[in-house]
Amino acid sequence: MQQGVTMKFHGILLFAALMVIGQLPLLSATGWKEVKEQIFTPHCLTCHDVNKGAASRQSAPANVNFNTFVLATLSDNEDRAWLRVTAGTMPPTGGLSQTLRDLINDWKTGGYLDSPPTAAAGASQTVISGNTVTLDGSGSADVDLDTLSYGWTQTAGTSVTFSSNTAAKPTFTAPTVATETTLTFILTVTVSDGDSSLNTATSTVAVTVLPPGSTLPASTTTSTTSSPAASSGATASGAPPPAGGGGGGCWLENP
Ligand code: HEC
Repeated sequence: MQQGVTMKFHGILLFAALMVIGQLPLLSATGWKEVKEQIFTPHCLTCHDVNKGAASRQSAPANVNFNTFVLATLSDNEDRAWLRVTAGTMPPTGGLSQTLRDLINDWKTGGYLDSPPTAAAGASQTVISGNTVTLDGSGSADVDLDTLSYGWTQTAGTSVTFSSNTAAKPTFTAPTVATETTLTFILTVTVSDGDSSLNTATSTVAVTVLPPGSTLPASTTTSTTSSPAASSGATASGAPPPAGGGGGGCWLENP
């Protein structure tokens, strides 16, 4: 017990010491975005740009490029970049400021393994048969500024045809239904950033379709909480709600 307390105390001291010298690798928040925007783009791409021909690279080695996360981490380029930047020998025209050296050090020791993207399939909606429906996945993001790919699939309800199932905002025509029907869609966002364990995320959204001639409830975009079948979760891959409706339509009252 005595020993436990001592160890805990030492732990706090160590934590405080690490805080003071700014070397807390596990708490590092530096990602590709910061390093790319503050170091690689302004200070390295003049030469280390994969799109540049030999003449304009000013002798920078052909296989050392910092345009994307994948290129910057290819063949341990990030380790070599870290070494050269912290040593003050890159860029060749003069070393970077201490702030930027600290930044790349932070990235190298804690952040460059990347973060997963977040998927957002948008708010649930209630529409009438035959309406054009737009799903909106544009709230999805990747902290590392990697380009997102979108993939929409339907998991419940009368099947629909998307304008494109790889668009951020696909559209489709709501099917004609005889009774209230819930359609469920899963959005999968993917980034190609070199770390396959952290490159996808999913989100679910429900669209409730009412029969022709129905009147939409007063508020159709805030229905997320009013219909159990329409809950949208950030990481839903479980059982979709039952198709065919008849379940939750608590607010479909004849006007
Ligand atoms: C003005 C052009 C220029 C700029 C700007 C520049 N480099 Fe270089 N870089 C070179 C040249 C030329 C070499 C090859 C000679 C050498 O290794 O010193 C090189 C070599 C390197 C290497 C060594 C590759 C190896 O084989 O180990 C790394 C890593 C590197 N640069 C990283 C960077 C980083 C990171 C930046 C930005 C902070 C940067 N460079 C900015 C021209 C440049």
